[in-house]
Amino acid sequence: MTKVGIDAVEIHTGKLKMDLAEVFAPEMGDDPEKYTKGLGLHASSFPDVYEDIVTMGANAAYKLMERKGLTPEDIGRIDVATESAFDNSKPVSTYIAGCLEQVYDGDFHHANKGERKFACVAGTQSIDDAYNWIRAGRHRGRAALVIATDTALYARGDPGEATQGAGAVAMLISEDPSLVTLSTEQGFGSADETDFLKPNQQFPSVDGKRSVQVYLARMREALEDYESVAGKVELDDVNLAPFHTPFPGMVRKAALLGFRHIIRDTDVEDELEPEIGRQPREAEFDSEENYTEAIRAYMDDLKRTDAYQEWYANTVDPTLYLARHVGNWYTGSVHVARVSGLIKAYEAGEDMTGEQLLVGSYGSGAQAEVHSEIVQEGWKEEIEAIDILDHLDDRYEISFDDYEHIHDVHNHEKDVDVEEFTVPQSEFVFDGWGRMDERKYRFVE
Ligand code: COA
Repeated sequence: MTKVGIDAVEIHTGKLKMDLAEVFAPEMGDDPEKYTKGLGLHASSFPDVYEDIVTMGANAAYKLMERKGLTPEDIGRIDVATESAFDNSKPVSTYIAGCLEQVYDGDFHHANKGERKFACVAGTQSIDDAYNWIRAGRHRGRAALVIATDTALYARGDPGEATQGAGAVAMLISEDPSLVTLSTEQGFGSADETDFLKPNQQFPSVDGKRSVQVYLARMREALEDYESVAGKVELDDVNLAPFHTPFPGMVRKAALLGFRHIIRDTDVEDELEPEIGRQPREAEFDSEENYTEAIRAYMDDLKRTDAYQEWYANTVDPTLYLARHVGNWYTGSVHVARVSGLIKAYEAGEDMTGEQLLVGSYGSGAQAEVHSEIVQEGWKEEIEAIDILDHLDDRYEISFDDYEHIHDVHNHEKDVDVEEFTVPQSEFVFDGWGRMDERKYRFVE
């Protein structure tokens, strides 16, 4: 069977940076460690005045096409995943294709374009669509461009303000990919939930605490569903576990639950028994309350074991590095986590070829998806070529006053005139409004 997966990735970060501990926490009257230790976040990326979901997506896609030497004729599909769309009819992919057509001779007239919506899981769903399109043999030898782009802003004063971010991830999905292949097996955990939604409004209505619980419940369901088709996940089989990362503290919670699940009825549980006992089994308890209490105590002990700490440090922590410095990118977040883990493996000189990733995506509303990926031979060249770390350093650091202005600039209900903080170069920029209220873009040399 033909291998299908992610051939290449490019990441574009919003060009502004706000330090959460030094700039945001004091203004909120918070202890800086709530951010750095509790949420696991150091900084958030924000879009400059001339940036939005189209420019960020187009800039990531342009970089990817240039690096891979692609022309529009090589692309048969452009899918954009976003939960920050500003148009209920015309998909963001048409705006992005329009941008790219400004700089290429050819066009994307024969590419199928669309937009995927299911909160943060839509990026993974778009990869799914591309995978199925290629597997069905409808691609005519062409590749698919999947772009996850979001400006994750919350209303001023909402607790979610702590976890904002903005950026785009462009991915090329093809046959015989250089980076990772995707498993046919996948698991879903999906239910009608009201944890985070935007009913015809720009900023989300969020029940933050509930969304954490729903994330964990749906992810557990998805993992069990995945195991029902792929077989039990073994600790040693998984080299990295990139998960949707609204903030690293969320993944820390999910990782502990995942570890408990994976080691149940294995040698690892036996080996840990003298230290922390066996995992509580529901059947052994007379009430749910007692069972929950016992589970909580077991988890507290499990978290402190060397076995867990070592697994977490090797398998999960490397995937969180980028998120700590950019915040939540919604649809792009799990794809940032994958790259983060591979960058760290590259820096550590690991040979990842043939290694397995267990990927967990999540979208509020709510749906989790779990699948696995196998790292391909070309991974080193692909990861080496991603220059996101340089771009993180190049971001312009904003003060709290700047933040208030930039939040207003990107608030659809406000019309404010704010100077650009950075100078655009070799990139697409927002260029005002057209006669039908469409947003217009141009390429700046
Ligand atoms: N030192 C160390 N840790 C600290 C701390 C300090 N001084 N102060 C607080 N913390 C910890 C808290 O204990 C908590 O960790 P825990 O959940 O493991 O107990 C964490 O920091 C966050 O603090 P909390 O008081 O819960 O923050 P909050 O009320 O501002 O809300 C969110 C946090 C995530 C719920 C909120 O930012 C939100 O709604 N985000 C958007 C929704 C979202 O991202 N959902 C995730 C699923 S997709």
